[in-house]
Amino acid sequence: MKVLVIGSGAREHAIVWKLLQSPQVEKVFVAPGNAGTSEIAQNIDISATDIQSLIDVARQNKVYFTFVGPETPLAGGLVDAFSKAGLPVFGPTQAAARIESSKVFSKALMTKYGIPTAASRSFSDLNAATNYVKPLKPPIVLKADGLAAGKGVVIAQSTDDAVDALKCMMQDSSLGQAGEQVVIEEYMTGREMSIFAFSDGTALSAPVSACDYKQVFDHNQGPNTGGMGSFSPPDFYTTELGERAMSEVMRPTIKALTSEGAPFAGVLYGGLMVDGNIMRTVEFNCRFGDPETQVIMPRLKSDLVDIVLAVIEKRLERQSIEWSDEACVGVVMAAPGYPGHYPTGLVISGLSDVDQDVMVFHAGTKHDSDGKVVSCGGRVLTVVAKGATLLQARQKVYNNLSRISFDGAHYRTDIAQF
Ligand code: AMP
Ligand code: GLY
Repeated sequence: MKVLVIGSGAREHAIVWKLLQSPQVEKVFVAPGNAGTSEIAQNIDISATDIQSLIDVARQNKVYFTFVGPETPLAGGLVDAFSKAGLPVFGPTQAAARIESSKVFSKALMTKYGIPTAASRSFSDLNAATNYVKPLKPPIVLKADGLAAGKGVVIAQSTDDAVDALKCMMQDSSLGQAGEQVVIEEYMTGREMSIFAFSDGTALSAPVSACDYKQVFDHNQGPNTGGMGSFSPPDFYTTELGERAMSEVMRPTIKALTSEGAPFAGVLYGGLMVDGNIMRTVEFNCRFGDPETQVIMPRLKSDLVDIVLAVIEKRLERQSIEWSDEACVGVVMAAPGYPGHYPTGLVISGLSDVDQDVMVFHAGTKHDSDGKVVSCGGRVLTVVAKGATLLQARQKVYNNLSRISFDGAHYRTDIAQF
């Protein structure tokens, strides 16, 4: 069969890589893809949000199904449009994607259905929000309602900073429409983990968990990024913890969405905060995480095509899903200056010098006119290795990463170091 993957990050490269391991897959198209995906699949130069052109491509190429990587096309109704056109597609509808695309919706759902999360209030009026914030003890957590590419959460360390941030979002429209409404919530402490489970709207698969690193520098210093590394499973993960996450957070959320008339099919991503015995939800996403996917796909023993089809055909309950016990670590190599301004067109060398079992998933890369692989984004590559333990995987990934270079490349040296 032929399949279409939508997106252009290292997450999508990892998904394409995994789909191609299926004996059922004859060819993968990626829209728009990157240099890495073009080496194993066929890139099509169409934006992930150009829904009509994507429908045309899926039709013309007779693709068996389409897999959507990022949240923006899901929130934009891609799945609804594909389904209407009679094209099988993996991902939630626009209504179900609100679990990620509206924090106000997601918090209200959690409150209504008793899903554990931080206490919060939602505001659409700046004065009311400011009056609410003033007596609160910092740190104060402010969240823009809509999608904001990772920039929607402010953890203010003083009341003044919180008041300023509210003004920026709600009055100065620093995040556009996304900041018209704001959620103000209690600050939580603990360790964060991301948990992922497939759902067909009713059944939920066995979960898998990973941790990611948002800040640019070692020891969580510097500004937030799209993610600088990840590892799976979390060092503190146990089967019991996974089962609690499923019974207290993931299953109730799937049921709640169905009760609200928006059944969720695809991958549900729960961002959880674990503090001793307390487990609470930080947020939900309606798709796989980046950079978590890069360390999850290598641990998936089952055929991804079987799982995708079981989700699309609503027979996930009868589908077994196995995750390997191995550990996996991924480190992101970024362009100099990222997450601020950065140059592009940096020639990447050493890509073929890594060990055979090490994976290099591309993000911001393309081929230049001479056919050389050059950078074209802030996050350029995720280098990934497996091992019997996190320590072994970590050693392997850093050993291999040092063989790849481009001018000014930077990466964290403390991924999966405890
Ligand atoms: P998000 O953009 O929703 O993924 O949030 C970004 C990050 O902000 C999360 O991964 C957490 O590290 C942090 N965060 C969000 N909400 C809270 C909270 N209530 N308490 C503490 N940290 C939080
Ligand atoms: N790893 C964070 C995200 O995918 O949103």
